[in-house]
Amino acid sequence: MKLVRHLANLGYGSRRQVTAMLHDGRVTRADGTPLYPEDPVGHDEIRIDDQPLDPPSGLVLMLHKPVGYTCSTRDTGRLIYELLPSRFAARKPMLSTVGRLDRETSGLLLLTDDGQLLHRIISPKSHLPKVYEAELAADLQGHEAGLFASGTLVLETETTPLAPAGLEVLAPRRVRLTVTEGRYHQVRRMFAAAGNHVITLHRQKIGGLELGNLPAGQWRVLQASEPAEIFGSSC
Ligand code: URA
Repeated sequence: MKLVRHLANLGYGSRRQVTAMLHDGRVTRADGTPLYPEDPVGHDEIRIDDQPLDPPSGLVLMLHKPVGYTCSTRDTGRLIYELLPSRFAARKPMLSTVGRLDRETSGLLLLTDDGQLLHRIISPKSHLPKVYEAELAADLQGHEAGLFASGTLVLETETTPLAPAGLEVLAPRRVRLTVTEGRYHQVRRMFAAAGNHVITLHRQKIGGLELGNLPAGQWRVLQASEPAEIFGSSC
């Protein structure tokens, strides 16, 4: 791909702005040699202001979404895209969230420009387990694990029962819940159906991929081997 288009697709500016950056000598090879628009050069060899480029398309990011941010490109209030470099919003192909977390939910959120990977993760057919920790307003009553595991629970306004979900009780008001679907506000609605209320909700894991100790509000690029962990045998 031509240099100007490549850099514009990575969000470094419009084609005109990128051309101006080349003209100003800001785009170089690793050894500092200025690049010209027609130069044949590999992605990894390019520097802008001495910095290596962001990864090319096929990018997968892990974000520790904090409470109070919305998974949307347009909304009132704070958006998760504000936590990423602003040029990421201008990338082509677009960087999309892999599913969503509610504004008041924290934890593991993936973003990618790989449409096939996104589809594989969110497809209901993938049955990928998603692990959440929740703090509840009231003590558990004892019927919740059976209700969630039954495969018969139908959420309000829905007609199809939820797939069985696994509940681990950590404390009278603290649970770990594993679900294999991604219905709207699913975890909160499951506890509402059980006569309780979720106060805090945090996603720890998608398939075999864990958030780990990434601090809230921080993000990192997944290593090439990590997307496979999502679908790995450990999930
Ligand atoms: N379930 C919810 O209720 N909210 C989320 O953000 C994710 C799962």
